[in-house]
Amino acid sequence: MYCVRKVVDDLYWVGGNDHRLALFENIHPIPRGVSYNSYLLLDEKTVLFDTVDWEICRQFIENIEHLLDGRDLDYLIINHMEPDHGASIEEILLRYPNVTIISTEKSFLLMRQFGFSIDGHIDEVKEGDTRTFGKHTITFVEAPMVHWPEAMVSFDVTNGVLFSADAFGSFGALDGKLFNDEVNFDRDWLDDARRYYTNIVGKYGPHVQALLKKAKTLDIKVICPLHGPLWRNDFAYLLNKYDQWSRYEPEEKGVMIAYASMYGNTESAAQVLAAKLVEKGVKNVVVHDVSNTHVSYLIADAFKYSHMVLASVTYNLGIYPIMHDFLMHMKALNLQKRTIGLIENGSWAPKSGALMKRFLDEEMKQMSVLNSEVAMVSTLNDNNKSEMDTFVDSILDSMDM
Ligand code: FEO
Repeated sequence: MYCVRKVVDDLYWVGGNDHRLALFENIHPIPRGVSYNSYLLLDEKTVLFDTVDWEICRQFIENIEHLLDGRDLDYLIINHMEPDHGASIEEILLRYPNVTIISTEKSFLLMRQFGFSIDGHIDEVKEGDTRTFGKHTITFVEAPMVHWPEAMVSFDVTNGVLFSADAFGSFGALDGKLFNDEVNFDRDWLDDARRYYTNIVGKYGPHVQALLKKAKTLDIKVICPLHGPLWRNDFAYLLNKYDQWSRYEPEEKGVMIAYASMYGNTESAAQVLAAKLVEKGVKNVVVHDVSNTHVSYLIADAFKYSHMVLASVTYNLGIYPIMHDFLMHMKALNLQKRTIGLIENGSWAPKSGALMKRFLDEEMKQMSVLNSEVAMVSTLNDNNKSEMDTFVDSILDSMDM
């Protein structure tokens, strides 16, 4: 059975939801599922914007067939060729052999790499090109590295609809609700939108900034991303989040404490620190055990908060492997401009503090590591008491509190 929704006159959402996929990109948990958004424009010509992951292709085809109601599909615009959107291109070619695909040069290269037979179907566009399909004229805007190099966004100059590809997307299945004003985004979606952005696109902040600059020149009425809710109002809220995330500016003044503990002693120090911070008025504190928190959640909070404390046991004379993995992810995603405090533990050769400091200083950008730190030997004891109090004070000082 088809399942479609009208977006604006002539335009319909023809995507679908996936609750069965456990890991997006086979890395990131998606307990709330994910949507793959695709859109069909019914003008003098019929135009499909992107396809969907193979997993929901059957639903997608039913949606398209219902709306076309016997008409042929004339055009397929591909804004992004990653397989969660491009996987069903070949099925579209088989069912609609007269279709012309409109996309970028790099996108066609990728289609060939993925084995699609696209000869005779190609209409290559670049920045500023337009195509008219009847009432609607679409202009194309290149968006390289948001999130792959071939990416572009498409803008309908007739009605102000922006097809934004991965930009402004989110994890989470739509489950009937299509627009931002049909959900409580700040309460129910923001955490997943942040986790999606920071883990998928986070590395490419300067490219997102370039796209935001271009977006400011467009009179946007509706934003249609490839995942998650569509936006038809409150653009400032969304654009402000994207601006902060892509400049690597924290959203909130607060402390994320991430600890790596083998037997509970480093965990205990993290809890003592959290209690002292809250007692001194820092209410915005979150505590994560890196061993049982998926790194995508750690990354999202690392982007969210202004301050971070990394508390790690020493393991085989190095940083605890899971904490090291978190550091590597932060580096890979280009996180910068954070204030960091360190807690070290080790029973026979404590080294994790010095090693984490070296990583932050040498491998990452603009990380400000506090001079004060807590160095434990096996467990937090009376000898650490004044050290912990000084550490707390230095965090407060750095927060201007
Ligand atoms: Fe949802 Fe970069 O693909």
